Amino acid sequence: MDGMGLRNVSSHCSISEMDDYDLSRLLDKPRLNIERQRSFDERSLSELSIGFARGGLDNFDITCSPGGRSGFDTPASSARNSFEPHPMVADAWEALRRSLVHFRGQPVGTIAAYDHASEEVLNYDQVFVRDFVPSALAFLMNGEPDIVKNFLLKTLHLQGWEKRIDRFKLGEGAMPASFKVLHDPIRKTDTLIADFGESAIGRVAPVDSGFWWIILLRAYTKSTGDLSLAETPDCQKGMRLILALCLSEGFDTFPTLLCADGCSMIDRRMGVYGYPIEIQALFFMALRCALAMLKPDTEGKEFIERIVKRLHAMSFHMRSYFWLDFQQLNDIYRYKTEEYSHTAVNKFNVIPDSIPEWVFDFMPTRGGYFIGNVSPARMDFRWFALGNCVAILSSLATPEQSMAIMDLIESRWEELVGEMPLKICYPAIESHEWRIVTGCDPKNTRWSYHNGGSWPVLLWLLTAACIKTGRPQIARRAIELAESRLLKDSWPEYYDGKLGRFIGKQARKYQTWSIAGYLVAKMLLEDPSHLGMISLEEDKQMKPVLKRCSSWTC
Ligand code: GLC
Repeated sequence: MDGMGLRNVSSHCSISEMDDYDLSRLLDKPRLNIERQRSFDERSLSELSIGFARGGLDNFDITCSPGGRSGFDTPASSARNSFEPHPMVADAWEALRRSLVHFRGQPVGTIAAYDHASEEVLNYDQVFVRDFVPSALAFLMNGEPDIVKNFLLKTLHLQGWEKRIDRFKLGEGAMPASFKVLHDPIRKTDTLIADFGESAIGRVAPVDSGFWWIILLRAYTKSTGDLSLAETPDCQKGMRLILALCLSEGFDTFPTLLCADGCSMIDRRMGVYGYPIEIQALFFMALRCALAMLKPDTEGKEFIERIVKRLHAMSFHMRSYFWLDFQQLNDIYRYKTEEYSHTAVNKFNVIPDSIPEWVFDFMPTRGGYFIGNVSPARMDFRWFALGNCVAILSSLATPEQSMAIMDLIESRWEELVGEMPLKICYPAIESHEWRIVTGCDPKNTRWSYHNGGSWPVLLWLLTAACIKTGRPQIARRAIELAESRLLKDSWPEYYDGKLGRFIGKQARKYQTWSIAGYLVAKMLLEDPSHLGMISLEEDKQMKPVLKRCSSWTC
């Protein structure tokens, strides 16, 4: 592949002022601007084997050229590149544009699936907040930020609605799972309806929506260099309301966020309740993004302080208790139980007999991952793709842990990727356990849908994690697999089977995030400088937490 020089003509800018906010801001220590430009992200970028000139890298955080809007069908990225795009790319753009939703003439989002063949529409004709994220990134990378801005403002407006389920009023900060535009052709009016969980199957509020909103606001700001949106009183308030929901004090003994089953991408009962990695990683990332954007004014200051403390405690907790590698597994295997007081090694009283058999075979000698869940006497050893990729992107994982996650993906390729990237979780739950854990959910039978199904949308997260860790060849391998099937199969929502060989039993076709996820993965590989939008460098201040009391809060 030639032309990493295209970096210099990239239409995107990242500004150093908007760079990741570190704890030093609160500590009144001088900010390490120069050092920060040589961030972990950028260091790993420079290690990429696709070899672009260092000169381009140095310009990364300071150059800012206006984004050229592309023609209707032509992705700006391929127009400005000298390399030959895969034929699927044009089809994908066309399909993505077909999924656009307009409100009073303005594009405000993309519908979940454009599948007219499917007899059941359910809510797939709605704009889902989480589903729109890869669409938004694709548009940002293509120099089309307007739709993203419209979406951010529209959802912010929806947040302001009064939300009720039966007679119960939801928290003010809750963001919708999805919304829909109703067009009245006679009156020529557009109206919005939104679902905050009150219509969703299972009636669960989407905890991830607010986090994705904050993450997307940062991506928009970082990509356009337009700080004015994040700085508006409305956006500042929106962020504070989301944060107020998850930073409030309660009976918690852990810094992780307690939540109900089905409150994220896995929006059905799947035993993903308590402290699931899927939510913790997004929570951590959203906290870091908010820290970079909150103004230290009267109202913002208090939140900044709370965020800093929470991040500090969370990184310690997650890196110590959720992390599993060969050594750690061996330690747990030998745990004593019923220990009391501060000297306990087995703090959560995990009974070694509860370690599932599969984990002993699955764990490679080299490699590791954040397990699915940790709570009293419970460790969910399942692997979750989103949580682990977001842990890398947010730097919740240390650089060593990030490398170990990539090592695991590589050595357990057949299990985690198989013939279609990427398994949402591994392994599937079967038989009796499936009955108990899912409540006999026929959509989530073993190796299907949320229960070990393969979701093409996860390709963008994998690619971003690969680029951040300097392992683009892993992403390339995964993208090749996707390219051999996705278009031919009409962009399914998910695949079934141990290897992900079969189009999912109830999978929609033309699922927008499968399309957008592919495009984002391609654009990230093509121009790795896009990574800055959805990646945060390691916060040096967070490092000493592993040594517990050497840190500033002690
Ligand atoms: C399903 C998925 C959810 C997604 C929605 C729309 O409910 O589980 O993650 O947001 O479809 O695609």
